[in-house]
Amino acid sequence: MELFRISVLVSGNGSDLQSIIDAVEDGRIPNSKIVGVISSNADAYALERAKQHEIPYAAVTKFEYADLRDRFDAILKILDGEHPDLIVLAGYLSILPPRVVQKYAGRIINIHPALLPKFGGKDYYGIRVHEAVLAAGETESGATVHYVDEGIDTGKIILQEKVPVMPGDDPQTLRERVLEVEHRILPEAIAMIEKERH
Ligand code: GRF
Repeated sequence: MELFRISVLVSGNGSDLQSIIDAVEDGRIPNSKIVGVISSNADAYALERAKQHEIPYAAVTKFEYADLRDRFDAILKILDGEHPDLIVLAGYLSILPPRVVQKYAGRIINIHPALLPKFGGKDYYGIRVHEAVLAAGETESGATVHYVDEGIDTGKIILQEKVPVMPGDDPQTLRERVLEVEHRILPEAIAMIEKERH
């Protein structure tokens, strides 16, 4: 059987990428293969994780490609070569231009560290999400896996899971509690899609 081909876009530590690698290797995401990792940051530890697992990797950064068009031409060239069935944004901090979203319409998913549609959109990424949740006095937060459309964090929700906000939480303790959920629901969502489509 042809394997379900997964391309992953990253920018940082890559713990979400690692959760996908682990799940492919232990079979929680069956009949699949991570065919490539592309990072917007050449120093991302996520690239080291790909290398350790013999997954093809590349950095396509704004330093090499100052021009957005050139940059996404380069990214598309790599992606097209990987023939992905699914593209996963796993802590990818750039916004995909409409032409990329359109080309892979319905085949791009993202993980966001909040209960979308709350605390999503242009200014909500990384630790800022958790700062905003605490500042708003929320009693719960969580993680969301959703399809990527031409908006930011606005596509159809696939999976979402809540965590409590604890008294005494700071952005870092909340971020860690949410990350644990991310590392469970991201592989789960990918396995659901593989089952539906493959
Ligand atoms: C995660 O919190 C994810 O929700 C957000 O960026 C972070 C990525 O973390 N989009 P890592 O690089 O996968 O560890």
